[in-house]
Amino acid sequence: RTAKSYMACRNDIHRHDGPFNAVYNSLIPADEELVKQKQLMAQLERLVGKEWPHAKLYLYGSCANSFGFPKSDIDVCLAIEDDDINKAEMLLKLADILESDNFQNVQALTRARVPIVKLMDPVTGISCDICINNVLAVVNTKLLRDYSRIDVRLRQLAFIVKHWAKSRRVNETYQGTLSSYAYVLMCIHFLQLRRPPILPCLQEMEPTYAVRVDNIKCAYFDKVERLGNFGSNNRETIAELVWGFFNYWAYGHDYANTVVSVRTGSILGKREKNWTRRVGNDRHLICIEDPFETSHDLGRVVDKFSIRVLREEFERAAKIMHQDPNPCAKLFEPY
Ligand code: CTP
Ligand code: MG
Repeated sequence: RTAKSYMACRNDIHRHDGPFNAVYNSLIPADEELVKQKQLMAQLERLVGKEWPHAKLYLYGSCANSFGFPKSDIDVCLAIEDDDINKAEMLLKLADILESDNFQNVQALTRARVPIVKLMDPVTGISCDICINNVLAVVNTKLLRDYSRIDVRLRQLAFIVKHWAKSRRVNETYQGTLSSYAYVLMCIHFLQLRRPPILPCLQEMEPTYAVRVDNIKCAYFDKVERLGNFGSNNRETIAELVWGFFNYWAYGHDYANTVVSVRTGSILGKREKNWTRRVGNDRHLICIEDPFETSHDLGRVVDKFSIRVLREEFERAAKIMHQDPNPCAKLFEPY
């Protein structure tokens, strides 16, 4: 089809704003869930504090980055500044403590890639994973949350993209598709590159927040309330942005040569990252740079089979946005 017909359908896209907003509103968790999370955190803090008075508990992941769906499990990081802790021992000890306090389904997974204790709280019904000293995750959670405070369109777009990815089963890292964390970064990057931009690049601005985690310097401008209505010169609506996002990942992105980078708010070359060929299991077939752990490609889970699945799903979504009279119904059709 011609560029002209694409433009025609693009100009008409606003009629889908209502349905997309309705999807977004239906995905926002209720406030009472936050209350329950706080209640559970307070209980955990009491228990952990008794055994390890210097430890701190932080929420991370979707329960704290503002991109969480209702009824999600919560992720907790126990941070303790002690050089000679034995994580496995500590997790086993923690599991004992939790079990004696009547938590259910308590399980220490000491051999997992990220070792954790799992538990279910019978009072609030919330399930929870606790890991030790995964401080980078706490910091990148804050970065995502700070971005979401700048312009509501990020949260809208990311909820819709996550909902699409879960419906279409392309949010399963163990099957070679992308994590929710990767999808949110793709959304941030997309909004950084709109013209005029909808989001700034916080890591390129004068830092107001800086921490060092395992020799990685994490610094960025976090006083986002000072930015005012940063994105207001851009009037694009949610339907347009969903259209643009899928169009970019279906037809616009140069998979062979480029890397999306939220850290720089730009597109980098694979060459400069040395991500041009397979090293071990890292194939770099779709490249998304972690904002702090910059040697980490969040697309590294993607293999030669799942890249096809992923790209076909991006194309399917883009086609639906271009052609379907009722894209909201089709887009989220279960796979
Ligand atoms: N994380 C990370 N590096 C990854 C994957 C995840 O640092 N490669 C951290 C991030 O802090 C992220 C958290 O782990 O926020 C949880 O990741 P994930 O489950 O992908 O995202 P959620 O936001 O929890 O999404 P979901 O609603 O699907 O659980
Ligand atoms: Mg999660």
